[in-house]
Amino acid sequence: MDFQPLKYILELSKKPNAPVLVLLHGTGGDEQDLIPLAKDITKDFHLLSLRGNVNEGGMPRFFRRIRMGVFDEKDLAFRTDEMKVFIEKVLQENHLENAKIIAVGYSNGANIAGATLLKYPNFLAGAILFRPMLPFQAPELSEKAQQVPVFFSNGKNDPTVPPKDTTTYLEILKEQGFEVEHHALPTSHNLTYNDVELAKIWLEKYFPIN
Ligand code: MLT
Repeated sequence: MDFQPLKYILELSKKPNAPVLVLLHGTGGDEQDLIPLAKDITKDFHLLSLRGNVNEGGMPRFFRRIRMGVFDEKDLAFRTDEMKVFIEKVLQENHLENAKIIAVGYSNGANIAGATLLKYPNFLAGAILFRPMLPFQAPELSEKAQQVPVFFSNGKNDPTVPPKDTTTYLEILKEQGFEVEHHALPTSHNLTYNDVELAKIWLEKYFPIN
């Protein structure tokens, strides 16, 4: 199967050297979803918001799943490559090929962002993962990340993500050289104001912009 383009929204910053936030929605969402959140966490970055190419009963997703919480890992690997090539193309067309890329993903979007971290540890300059799940059960790990910061927030009462998988995932990320900031929040799978505030502080800490 060939790579397909993804639907997207690109909003350019007035600061040409700003990083690009790549926004990745949750199941059933689209490229509009995370734009308000992105504007709450930064006023200065370029925004590239994508819509997943997979359709599950009318709900856009970034990759197929076999059932709730069980991923089609072959499709996930393919979609990760498809998305990476697409991001590179859009950035090149807009003369942003040297910009730092920071993924911001929620749920299904966080999972393809995580797959990108594990497959291409130095493609992203950083990632914000809201309610992530371990993308590959036995990830094929190659090179280590070179000080790539990762924001990771999970809900302590989230029934979609088994706590022991979160522990394993955090260990794998750290083992692979990612600089992980982990927040276990008193909530479920939903995003909270707390997530947004903490992500904003994290972004200002690792990617300050004047
Ligand atoms: C997934 O990627 O399947 C999720 O983490 C759960 C969901 O999106 O519903």
